[in-house]
Amino acid sequence: MLAGEVQAPGRVNLIGEHIDYHGLPVLPIAMDRRIRIRFRARGDRRICASSAAPFGRREFAWTGDLQPVAAGDWENYLRAAASAVASRWGLCAGVDAWIAADLPPAAGLASSSALIVAFTLCLLAANGIHAGFEELMAILPEGEHFVGTRGGGMDHAAILASRAGCASLIEFAPLAVRHIVVPGDWAFLVAHSLETAEESGSARTAYNARRQAGAAALARLGMASYREVIAAPQRHAELLARLAGSNEDAERDAFLHTTSESARVTEAVAAIEAGDAAGFGRLLTESQGSLRDRLRVSSPALDRLVDAALACGALGARLTGAGFGGAVVAVTRKPDLPALRHGLISSYYDGRAGFCEADHLIDALPAAGAGFEVR
Ligand code: GLA
Repeated sequence: MLAGEVQAPGRVNLIGEHIDYHGLPVLPIAMDRRIRIRFRARGDRRICASSAAPFGRREFAWTGDLQPVAAGDWENYLRAAASAVASRWGLCAGVDAWIAADLPPAAGLASSSALIVAFTLCLLAANGIHAGFEELMAILPEGEHFVGTRGGGMDHAAILASRAGCASLIEFAPLAVRHIVVPGDWAFLVAHSLETAEESGSARTAYNARRQAGAAALARLGMASYREVIAAPQRHAELLARLAGSNEDAERDAFLHTTSESARVTEAVAAIEAGDAAGFGRLLTESQGSLRDRLRVSSPALDRLVDAALACGALGARLTGAGFGGAVVAVTRKPDLPALRHGLISSYYDGRAGFCEADHLIDALPAAGAGFEVR
């Protein structure tokens, strides 16, 4: 009977926000906050999992036609993993699983994807199945659509294939991960706005609408992909003019965000490779401006937190993840990290109910992923 333990980290997207679902490269890191699952294979097809309060225990039969349960119930992530595995390997033995996590949920740190990835790895390991990175990437992003978010593949790729000390430049067409060494004296601080980013509620509808607006702009222009748009920068002004005539502000703004964010990813990679922390920081802050004003996925709390980080000496800061609440990531040099941390505590968190430094202010050292090599 197979038993063991698997783990999957959270991710912090450094830059390249709301563009993975258009097939454009993004630049996240994995962080050393993880979901760990101990498991034992069962002799039947039942899936039994428990996690500390408030999550509790869930149990269901693994069948070929799993449907979601009530929106917001964490069992949906277990069901998503089971459906994803079944779509490729068929129904297998069920498991008894015990889940522990030090990754804050609903913070924009991909805790949902980490749970789906970890539970997928758990089901595979319990059945003695060895899957590769490409095989997992073929089922995981699609599998997450089970819970209703039409997300891209950034989170799963970062969670599976990140390397300690490196950011991951993830490309989707074709799928590839380039590990970019982060200069040793740079530091990333993840600061929670204290407003959650619930993926199952209105944020999910708003997220899907942003994706839809970007796709509609592309369709209006008669272009096949954003990669095609990016490859022809000399046409951007003309394309924009055509969108301006359409009276569809949301589409034009999504187009502007997508094309400019893609350029910032390229520049951010160059800044890391040149050790240009100030330049990298500027790109993060520009990304925040575009997410706030064009894509409109920021929130007053996230804007205030970004401003507070900049006022406390961060070289740049932006929301990370889907937005609509959750966390920001700020970049600074390591010697300036304590001042940034203390500055945020006194200027943003001071006296706010529910603030817990260990959960809401996290030093995000670029960490290893779940341990998958990319060919
Ligand atoms: C969520 C999705 C990702 C990505 C980000 C925004 O985290 O899961 O695929 O689209 O939002 O960049």
